[in-house]
Amino acid sequence: MAEAQLIDGQALATALRSRVADAVAMLTARHGVTPGLAAVLVGDDPASRIYVRNKQRACAAAGIGSFEHELPGDASEAEVLGLIGTLRGDERVDGIIVQLPLPRQIDPRRVIDAVGPDKDVDGFHPLNIGRLWIGEPTVVPCTAEGCMMLIRSVRRDLAGSSAVVVGRSSVVGRPLAALLLDADCTVTLAHSKTRGLPALCRRADLLIAAAGRPLLVKASWIKPGATVIDVGINRVPIGGTVRLVGDVDTAAAMQVAGAITPVPGGVGPMTIACLLRNAVLAACRRRGLPDPEALAALPPVMEPPPPDGCCAR
Ligand code: GUN
Repeated sequence: MAEAQLIDGQALATALRSRVADAVAMLTARHGVTPGLAAVLVGDDPASRIYVRNKQRACAAAGIGSFEHELPGDASEAEVLGLIGTLRGDERVDGIIVQLPLPRQIDPRRVIDAVGPDKDVDGFHPLNIGRLWIGEPTVVPCTAEGCMMLIRSVRRDLAGSSAVVVGRSSVVGRPLAALLLDADCTVTLAHSKTRGLPALCRRADLLIAAAGRPLLVKASWIKPGATVIDVGINRVPIGGTVRLVGDVDTAAAMQVAGAITPVPGGVGPMTIACLLRNAVLAACRRRGLPDPEALAALPPVMEPPPPDGCCAR
């Protein structure tokens, strides 16, 4: 059997970021609007710091204003809520993200509530989550949206497909289940207590691994020809160095899957690109402007490799 098609998240993210930059240029030229994104980092978790720095660079490249705020790891909840209140009132700021996880003394639910639905570019506010689950237009959580774009880059028609999402986090698994359902998939949301996980995964036309467990998904868990999306970004010490590995044993899975995302270079780059997209959409919606056309279109479907008699693609 031929090796799986590698889904190039880097290329797809670059294309989306360029469409975001076009939309920003259009907004500035026609309406004098420069979208602005504020990021709040509490404490000095190294991974969070890298994410926030990458977001800042991506904003600059797309022409989006970025406002970074750092608070010490022992900041009180009141301080964080106070800062969010200020950002909510700041006309230059269209979207606010508070980098998760937060230190223990701060309740993430209260923080997300404080951001409010309009500037919630993460799509974590309860009102936006509710809209997502009833299939209404809303802000879609970035990693989940990125996964859908990656899936649609190789499979345009998802109706009737069986989708298994492994991992029920609010950031990825749950919103992705809602999006797959909206795309007419039959969705199973699996988690650490799920029984018979390997056999369940083997029935999936679309398998999304978002458990945060390095190399959890083996080749033997994958249906031949399935599309596999690996959301995991795990830092694992291997042979004296720290390597990034996903939730899927990619090298082995490539011998079975029809298409698969690599780690790194798969889901990761899409998350930031989708965040920029959400910031521009928030800027438009806040002003009653229509969503820019450049951001509505789906990416083109990639050419699949030559058929090899496999049925599930
Ligand atoms: N931490 C890990 N992923 C995310 C995300 O998508 N948004 C926020 N705010 N924090 C995160």
